[in-house]
Amino acid sequence: MNSTARRLPRMVQKLLGLLGLLAVLVGCKPADGPWTPAEKRLMASLVLTSKLPESTGNYVADEPRAAKLGQALFFDKALSGDGKVACATCHEPQKYFTDGRRQAQGMGATSRNAPTVLGAGWFPFVFLDGRKDSLWSQALGPIEADNEHGFDRLALAHALYDRYRQPYEAVFGSMPNLADVQRFPAHGKPVELDRAHPLQRAWAAMQMADQEAVNQVFAHFGKAIEAFERHLQPQPAPFDHYVKAVLAGNTNGGGQLDPAAQRGLRAFMGRAGCVNCHNGPLLSDRGFHNLGLPGAKDDKGQMLTGIDGGRTMGAGKVKLDPFRCGQAHSDAKECDELRFLDPRFADFVGAFKTPSLRNVAMTAPYFHAGQAQNLREVLDFYRTLPGRAQLGHREFTLQPLPGSVDADDMIAFLNSLTGPLPAVEWLGPPKDRL
Ligand code: HEC
Ligand code: HEC
Repeated sequence: MNSTARRLPRMVQKLLGLLGLLAVLVGCKPADGPWTPAEKRLMASLVLTSKLPESTGNYVADEPRAAKLGQALFFDKALSGDGKVACATCHEPQKYFTDGRRQAQGMGATSRNAPTVLGAGWFPFVFLDGRKDSLWSQALGPIEADNEHGFDRLALAHALYDRYRQPYEAVFGSMPNLADVQRFPAHGKPVELDRAHPLQRAWAAMQMADQEAVNQVFAHFGKAIEAFERHLQPQPAPFDHYVKAVLAGNTNGGGQLDPAAQRGLRAFMGRAGCVNCHNGPLLSDRGFHNLGLPGAKDDKGQMLTGIDGGRTMGAGKVKLDPFRCGQAHSDAKECDELRFLDPRFADFVGAFKTPSLRNVAMTAPYFHAGQAQNLREVLDFYRTLPGRAQLGHREFTLQPLPGSVDADDMIAFLNSLTGPLPAVEWLGPPKDRL
């Protein structure tokens, strides 16, 4: 990450890495000794807190009726081109809001792994390349993606008008008169770079004020979804109970972690260096890094073509997003996160978001394109760091996992991050009428 490190020639880099490794190995503590004050401080910083960051861009983010509406929409398959795809298709509650596939599958195949929605509200940038800067504007993407919902914003607005008008208006006020199909055709959306596209033509034929009215409904849809998603939070896991007990003076941590998980935790915070990127209550620095992962395969083991630009592309897209912070439909006035964002930043090339490790044992496969089927394959990767980055370079701070770190211990620790699912009332469509 730092610029002096980048200027050092590769050999010196490697030497320094080896020396560092040696120093750690020679000075390493016995695997099962008592926690040091520094270790206790570090583990305290990893405990789950309930202070979800405020969503300044969404004035109904914490409004209960908006959450109920968003909940119904999240599970509604009718909001798709073939009537078969809902958000929950790829974010299944019982799979901790993932889908168990390498790459997600909606109306068509996608090229990325579906991350969990649990805790997504903690990240300033959403999606694996951070191409959205809010949870509400994120929800607009899959609706119009041909390989996901395969829908369009006019069809969505009509569906809301026909089936959700009363609960919608109770939260957001009156809807435009979508019954007027002269002004509001059944289908249409802006299709960049394709003026001949039928959906683009329908969209372009509309009055600008009507386009804006549809964009407003579209944004409100996202805001209701976000209000629901804010209830989807990771829950305290054995790890949290353990740390709280240790900090309260109970040396065996209430028996919450077995010795293997404790050794894994120690390595995670120390020799293995995981905590450099996986830190804070979500076990993510909320930043982007290039791990130099190999190319992805599809479910049949075929290599997928196409190289994923990662954060470089994401940073470029969020700056141009008509629904980002500071644009008409965002309620946020201060956009500090965007102000200093420069897509040309060298470390963005081929970088992806550091995922949360909360409930990670429940959300296989792993990595942005499902490159690892299970946690053992993830650790095999960190152990050997095979191959070269497809794009840019592997982050210099990333060193192969030392031989002294046992994969079983690390997996035992990662397993201790699994908590229960959120309250059952949020795990399906709302029970009562909206
Ligand atoms: C076809 C499967 C599919 C559908 C349908 C789908 N998603 Fe996703 N979702 C994904 C994939 C794949 C990603 C990661 C894509 C990327 O980063 O480019 C993702 C990412 C996300 C994220 C970002 C998580 C993070 O950590 O950054 C959220 C939140 C989310 N989806 C919510 C939704 C909502 C809300 C809907 C419905 C409006 C939805 N998804 C529909 C597959 C899907
Ligand atoms: C340089 C920062 C960095 C370090 C150090 C690091 N990680 Fe990661 N980790 C990431 C990033 C970034 C990803 C996502 C990469 C991608 O998908 O392209 C990731 C992905 C993962 C995943 C997959 C999660 C998922 O949902 O797909 C696991 C598990 C994981 N890391 C565990 C670890 C462990 C254990 C260590 C220590 C041995 C570690 N990481 C060290 C940045 C880091």
